[in-house]
Amino acid sequence: MQKLLVTGSNGLVGSTVVEYFDALGWRTYGIDNNMRKEFFGTNADTGWMLSKLQTKCKRFTYFNFDIRDRKMVEECLVEVRPDMIVHAAAQPSHDLAASRPFDDFEINALSTLILLEFTRRHAPEATFVYMSSNKVYGDAPNELAMQELEYRWDYALPDYYDGISESFRIDRSQHSIFGASKVAADVMVQEYGRYFGLRTCCLRAGCITGTGHSAVELHGFLSYLTRVAIMNETYRIFGYKGKQVRDNIDSYDIATFIEQFHDNPQIGEVYNIGGGRENSCSIMEAFGYIEHLTGTKVKYEYIEQVRRGDHICYISDLKKARLNYPGWNITKNLPTIFENLVDSWKQKLN
Ligand SMILES: NC(=O)c1ccc[n+]([C@@H]2O[C@H](COP(=O)([O-])OP(=O)(O)OC[C@H]3O[C@@H](n4cnc5c(N)ncnc54)[C@H](O)[C@@H]3O)[C@@H](O)[C@H]2O)c1
Repeated sequence: MQKLLVTGSNGLVGSTVVEYFDALGWRTYGIDNNMRKEFFGTNADTGWMLSKLQTKCKRFTYFNFDIRDRKMVEECLVEVRPDMIVHAAAQPSHDLAASRPFDDFEINALSTLILLEFTRRHAPEATFVYMSSNKVYGDAPNELAMQELEYRWDYALPDYYDGISESFRIDRSQHSIFGASKVAADVMVQEYGRYFGLRTCCLRAGCITGTGHSAVELHGFLSYLTRVAIMNETYRIFGYKGKQVRDNIDSYDIATFIEQFHDNPQIGEVYNIGGGRENSCSIMEAFGYIEHLTGTKVKYEYIEQVRRGDHICYISDLKKARLNYPGWNITKNLPTIFENLVDSWKQKLN
């Protein structure tokens, strides 16, 4: 039986990956210390997800420790000797990072090195998937010519119609402290591939969403927006007239990509992975989707000040992912994503 070790197993991506591979018959092991609650408060508590995994996944083993603990990580790698590692534990917020730079860097960058090194020593044949971020490109995508449409910003040049590809530069721009720690980890994951031959891959994700997110204002765009709308609270828009665009991918479609990578692994690769143009929307357009489903206007407050380093329009170019893994594609379109989010928040909040 194949073994999968997932860091951040109670978070959105980690839990989806655990469920997905458990259903495929794998033995799964998760590491999580519910740091998300410590970062973002009680609404971000991932305890409910841990209970769900422990009930639903028959071959799931949970380890409650901090991935910064080098000794624990090594003991875990020695005990499990996984066939695959999915590294999804993180301080995930662009904005929070500035107030907790040491936590951010230690969790995002240093822990990635710890995991890589113990993988090299104890499970060198394993595939290693790192959840990177489109923030590795910093705010350089904002230098592209933009056109303002009625409800969204969009790239003005046809060359960028499909979005940002992996060849886009990653330095000489403002990343936020979070983006900089993700760059450090991303480059180290590539290096352990190129230098040591590990089967590593960085997934530079756009906005990942899904019903498994313990969403809060500082992290979890669509899920948080839906929660606010269902509760009839006020959503805060930061600048760009609410026309800033994100491409959204359901965490399920991340799990299916990871399966493809494991089946045909590469060394030190990077992939931009998001919803692509079809799954892109601005905040204003997201309001439209939700209002269509709930019949109620989303209340919002507009704040002129933009979030530092925020993308005006970010769409992941999926050509490389589709070319190298033709068996993979997006399976959840935006209407489905919104329907699922609205249904699940209605259930949870009732
Ligand atoms: N959600 C998105 O929109 C998005 C977009 C791009 C990239 N990513 C990346 O994908 C990864 C997963 O994101 P997510 O949305 O699932 O985040 P998440 O916060 O839902 O999950 C991360 C999990 O890691 C755990 N964790 C944090 N610090 C830990 C530590 N020190 N020790 C053990 N566990 C710890 C948290 O408790 C949480 O359950 C992250 O690396 C994130 O940067 C996410």
